[in-house]
Amino acid sequence: MTQELTTSLPTEPVRPSESPGWWRDAVIYQVYVRSFADSDGDGIGDLRGVRERLPHLAGLGMDAVWLTPFYASPQADGGYDVADYRTVDPLFGTLGDADDLVRTAHELGLRVIVDVVPNHSSDQHPWFREALAEPGGAARTRYHFRRGRGAHGELPPNDWESVFGGPAWTRTTDPDGTLGEWYLHLFAPEQPDLNWDSPEVRAEFDSVLRFWLDLGVDGFRIDVAHGMVKAAGLPDIGRTEQAKLIGSQVLPFFDQDGVHEIHRSWRRLLDSYPGDRIGVAEAWAPTAERLALYVRPDELHQAFNFQFLKCPWDAAAMREVIDESLAATRSVGAPTTWVLSNHDVVRHTTRYADGADGGPGQGLARARAAALLTLALPGSSYLYQGEELGLPEVTDLPDEARQDPAFFRTSPDGEDGQNGQDGFRDGCRVPLPWTRSGESYGFGPGGSWLPQPDAWSGLSVEAQTGDPGSTLELYRGALALRRELPGLGDGPMSWLEAPAGVLALSRPGLVCTLNTLGEEVELPVPGRALLSSAPLSYGAGTVRIPPDSCAWWAI
Ligand code: GLC
Repeated sequence: MTQELTTSLPTEPVRPSESPGWWRDAVIYQVYVRSFADSDGDGIGDLRGVRERLPHLAGLGMDAVWLTPFYASPQADGGYDVADYRTVDPLFGTLGDADDLVRTAHELGLRVIVDVVPNHSSDQHPWFREALAEPGGAARTRYHFRRGRGAHGELPPNDWESVFGGPAWTRTTDPDGTLGEWYLHLFAPEQPDLNWDSPEVRAEFDSVLRFWLDLGVDGFRIDVAHGMVKAAGLPDIGRTEQAKLIGSQVLPFFDQDGVHEIHRSWRRLLDSYPGDRIGVAEAWAPTAERLALYVRPDELHQAFNFQFLKCPWDAAAMREVIDESLAATRSVGAPTTWVLSNHDVVRHTTRYADGADGGPGQGLARARAAALLTLALPGSSYLYQGEELGLPEVTDLPDEARQDPAFFRTSPDGEDGQNGQDGFRDGCRVPLPWTRSGESYGFGPGGSWLPQPDAWSGLSVEAQTGDPGSTLELYRGALALRRELPGLGDGPMSWLEAPAGVLALSRPGLVCTLNTLGEEVELPVPGRALLSSAPLSYGAGTVRIPPDSCAWWAI
């Protein structure tokens, strides 16, 4: 299945054709590099693997790819623990491979967005090692070091909890062997939070951004874009289970107003480069209005719309989130983004299934319908690798295969109701099946870092290609139509009358109908059927829309 690249690489960077505002309606495919394609047989996906399969992504109709971190890292959190922001980890290749990948993408008309991880570094970053080596030294001001509370400093400096479970502070041991200060890590202990009050930290990230922009990337996905600034004095929160509050209220470590000034300065930096380079915020904000602050005209270009991702399979709730999202982004002149899955959440094929009640296939039916709905909405869509194959979450991974640090930091037997086989992030990171058979279903010649279910043979790219009923061909068809229908991306949208449980929306040249009910509904035929996530049947002047399905109609 590996497609040979016949393109010869030019010596000068090639920029994709100029189209200002390309991002406003772009379909951007998230490549989780370690699980996409492995070229060298170590069982871990790499940049060459990605490059070899870029023609496949271009052929599907993607506008851009977003690559998860491939920088030098001890991999304590899948590469979101960066030890050197300017080098490629040998697991994933070399800087030359990154350069080749960007050039090839551009030749194919694909833009490339890379991750930047500014909230924290790895504990193996030279800055942190220096800080540990010098108690009380200036190097510590680049992080958050504090003396502990209690008579002997034996208690953490405040009550903040790590997003991955446990306290957000770890006590250090000084070089002389005595217990010393504590440092803050909102994620794993291997991910110390950087102190963005330090001018050195700011200057370093400006330089890192320039490094990758000079290499030709088209933008950045900004990891934890809502976390860099902490409330002055690092005040206590006064309650436990703080992770449950993320995204529903402003916390002293998340969504502080101070982060916006950083994003404004990055926007100036991005704008100083030719070719419409963009910044997209991974920001968990409590409301659509607060999220919209990240995409004001002088800030970032996009922010992931997690309100929509969290929305249950319910027509009224979906309509409400869509309206709120559009209104909030419209108020600042930004496009909305739509995202159903990523490498941190349970895949939507599994999320949308109602357990045993829904029957087999319900989750996939809903996932296919949701894909058509989001691709019909105004704005830009982010697709997570494998959703175009309808992959489900893998819920039976053996514990010894798991690598998500959250899994190891939460109680082993699910006493918090979260542990067990669901709720951790390895299940959505299982390497892609490319072929029906063969070593790791074509992921690579040397196995796969997480075991793939046997049923994935039938979900492979090879098995689905050319099958008109497949999820892959559904996506291909939707993306092709999106390109053909002018104004679909960023144009206007209005709701049409529809029975309860059904959404009908009108876009330039298109009507989209979504039936979220468990039974079919009969509607007057809205137009000429273009695409449907499930087979339609007709009465006299009416169409029967199957349960859990979505259709596109030309008008
Ligand atoms: C973001 C990433 C996630 C990572 C965390 C810490 O939420 O998407 O994978 O664990 O940041 O960097």
